[in-house]
Amino acid sequence: MDLTSRDRFKRPEQVLITGAGGEVGHGLLHAFVDSGAGQVSTLDLAELPATHAPLVSNSYLGDIRDESLVAEIFGRNDIDEVYHLAALLSSAAEHAPAVAYDVNVTGSVGMIRQATQAAEERGRPILFFFPSSIAVYGFSDHGHKIESGAVDERVFHHPRTMYGCNKLAVENIGRYYALYHRRQGKKSAEFSGIDFRCLRFPGLISAVTQPTGGTSDFVPEMLHAAIRGEPYECFVRPDTRIPFMTMPDAIEATLQYTGAPVEQLTKSCYNVAAFSPSAEECAELVRHHYPSAKITFNVTPERQAIVDSWPAKVDCSAAERDWGFSPKHDLEKTFTEYIIPYFESQSGA
Ligand SMILES: NC(=O)c1ccc[n+]([C@@H]2O[C@H](COP(=O)([O-])OP(=O)(O)OC[C@H]3O[C@@H](n4cnc5c(N)ncnc54)[C@H](O)[C@@H]3O)[C@@H](O)[C@H]2O)c1
Repeated sequence: MDLTSRDRFKRPEQVLITGAGGEVGHGLLHAFVDSGAGQVSTLDLAELPATHAPLVSNSYLGDIRDESLVAEIFGRNDIDEVYHLAALLSSAAEHAPAVAYDVNVTGSVGMIRQATQAAEERGRPILFFFPSSIAVYGFSDHGHKIESGAVDERVFHHPRTMYGCNKLAVENIGRYYALYHRRQGKKSAEFSGIDFRCLRFPGLISAVTQPTGGTSDFVPEMLHAAIRGEPYECFVRPDTRIPFMTMPDAIEATLQYTGAPVEQLTKSCYNVAAFSPSAEECAELVRHHYPSAKITFNVTPERQAIVDSWPAKVDCSAAERDWGFSPKHDLEKTFTEYIIPYFESQSGA
């Protein structure tokens, strides 16, 4: 992981990562440890994988909705930056919308409130990173996809999933706590709350970890199935097109963004993405690199409708302009410079 961009700015002393046992947490944890961040604490419902445990100073096992546990974590650790990754992802959220609301909104707002309180008590801001998603977009109340070109951060906020509604709510509540809450608070007029920063991630493709139930997972799923030598039935139409990026580019973007001076930022929420292939284009590339891959298409209407409500492309020009977002991997390089070298290194080839 190249952290040169972040090194130019600053390095946090103490970091808290919620949901550290998941796909993004895996990459972020390694990146912080590689960069020599002072101390990394984690909070997850599940035990961290054995490979993660040595990387962590304090590993808390529990629920983000457990207010007394979260208060204890902020009380015992002088946290500079929170990376709040814990969430129920899109497909799981559609199956249990009430639980999703509770974890993704109530739990996230609880984390934001406790970070704000901790920052106010010590008189120094806490950076609060929140990974949002292209799921906040939706084209109309009736769910019909329209051709719109690259969609910028300000428009088409009609999510059709509980997950998208949850992400949009937390984006707004985070912005509220960062920008307005202090003006109504009883503490000093000087800012000492949270510095809320949010990225709207596209579908993320990781070589290292298996996808965990996101609706954008048809691309990483077809790839991992091919690598395992298993057939894959894709749940969306071949012409379905949404944005993606690799996990290393997502981690690099996160650290570059959270390391950028606040004066450079013009938004609290930025689009990031690297390429927008169709499902068929991805399947062709998987077949090209893994000739024995068996990929077929069998549409699941509910999941197709969700993906159809998301933009084919997002406009990342604000992130490029404000903090130098520049992903390394296009679709071809995702295979030639990331996926294939990773699996060759694993097999000792
Ligand atoms: N992976 C993607 O393609 C993608 C795309 C856009 C946004 N995101 C966002 O990035 C974040 C991380 O995603 P991921 O792919 O690593 O997810 P993941 O499902 O792999 O990991 C989520 C982690 O959160 C933990 N968790 C869930 N509920 C919890 C709770 N109540 N208390 C404590 N821990 C809890 C789980 O145990 C798991 O380790 C999520 O907020 C997700 O919405 C991911």
